[in-house]
Amino acid sequence: MNITWNADKYTSDFSFVHQYGNSVTELIDAKEGSTVLDLGCGNGALSEILRDKGYIVTGMDDSKDLLAVAEKNFPNIPFIRADATDFSLPEPVDVVFSNAVFHWIDKERQPEMLRCVYNALKERGQFVFEFGGHGNNFMIHEALAESFRRHGYAYKMPFYFPTVGEYSALLENAGFQVTFAALFDRPTKLRGENGLKEWIEMFVQTPFDAVEKESERECIKDEAVDRLRNSLYQNGDWYADYVRIRMKAIRL
Ligand code: BEZ
Repeated sequence: MNITWNADKYTSDFSFVHQYGNSVTELIDAKEGSTVLDLGCGNGALSEILRDKGYIVTGMDDSKDLLAVAEKNFPNIPFIRADATDFSLPEPVDVVFSNAVFHWIDKERQPEMLRCVYNALKERGQFVFEFGGHGNNFMIHEALAESFRRHGYAYKMPFYFPTVGEYSALLENAGFQVTFAALFDRPTKLRGENGLKEWIEMFVQTPFDAVEKESERECIKDEAVDRLRNSLYQNGDWYADYVRIRMKAIRL
């Protein structure tokens, strides 16, 4: 993953991630007592929602810091530390669920992740997920790329945001049948006057590794934020230009 998580700030200031994820859980069609893997469970907030629905949930994440928050907040849920592209379960589950995770996995590594999910599911098991789709945060990344250019650096986009067609093909190659797919805009209100700069600081980290001076990093962010004020700042609030890809697939 292209990030070091600030688990406390993520939990306090970016709770919209799991709040929006709530509606993704509604795509699951399984009876109470079904087993569910929450892949990339982060702070465990959605694992708890799945457990409240009567599922037997296991959360999995690769971040020690996020898992520490999850284990503290939800001691009744088992959490496992593992990489989404390299894991196996002792027993296959009925459902693999994931919210706001797969854009962190490079395009080249998606087939490995899908192979792990396939092996983790029972036959006819459900794979339900949402993440950043084609065009996600386009304006933010364009503004950052322009600021990087003006300072003499190339901006390397650290995320994977596929179209429905592209991701459906990956799923079919991995042995899944796609039963639901949608790509939709979801403008997302950020917290506070500094919301966009804080969003950049939380989520866009690796491109800044190339910029040595902290003062120059600050300038690049501030210039990008200024450039976006006309389009993403409305009536005192910042709105990030999120686009979601939401899908359901069955393991054949
Ligand atoms: C997303 O949830 O779409 C997302 C969040 C942070 C960085 C990139 C994508």
